[in-house]
Amino acid sequence: MRYEMLRRLDDPLPAANDTPATGRTPRESDLEGLAALMLDAYRGTIDDEGGTLDLARAEVANVGRGDYGAYMPEASDVAVVGDEIVAATIVTRWRDEPLIAFSMTAATWKRRGLARASLVRALHRLRDLGESRVRLVVTAGNEPAERLYVSLGWERVG
Ligand SMILES: CC(C)(COP(=O)(O)OP(=O)(O)OC[C@H]1O[C@@H](n2cnc3c(N)ncnc32)[C@H](O)[C@@H]1OP(=O)(O)O)[C@@H](O)C(=O)NCCC(=O)NCCS
Repeated sequence: MRYEMLRRLDDPLPAANDTPATGRTPRESDLEGLAALMLDAYRGTIDDEGGTLDLARAEVANVGRGDYGAYMPEASDVAVVGDEIVAATIVTRWRDEPLIAFSMTAATWKRRGLARASLVRALHRLRDLGESRVRLVVTAGNEPAERLYVSLGWERVG
């Protein structure tokens, strides 16, 4: 079961926590790095659908094509260490409101504050773009994600 969560952007936003990575908005040349990240981040999780790198590439391409709503690179974020994308927040516009389509961290980098910092950067970008709220959808029982989102001010709706 998946459910929807909502965060208002006029509520105070947390400051970005320090991490070993550098955040920036994604570039077209990040597609391969994002596919590798997606495959690695979801492997063994409750949302793992037994993917391959080719399927992850296709999924990243689907984001760019608008399958999750219009892709918003200006609000999205990649966290980079050296040449490697180690975490990312992918934002789209779904039914006229921003949606966190993906939040993901590479397996060996999990639990070091990278998803939190990346999401916080995306929240600040969305607010600076004049957005007033941001939604996401999470699988019930995806405890890392559920805890992360609640800790950043998302509330369950619907
Ligand atoms: C969910 C996910 C993005 C979290 O990434 P992360 O970089 O490890 O998260 P952070 O280190 O920023 O954690 C921030 C907070 O989230 C919660 N959290 C993260 N991982 C957790 C875990 N394994 N168990 C419990 N809480 C967890 C905690 O509240 C944590 O704060 P704390 O470390 O101070 O206790 C990562 O586990 C992931 O990539 N999962 C697979 C993809 C996925 O399911 N994405 C979400 C649905 S789209």
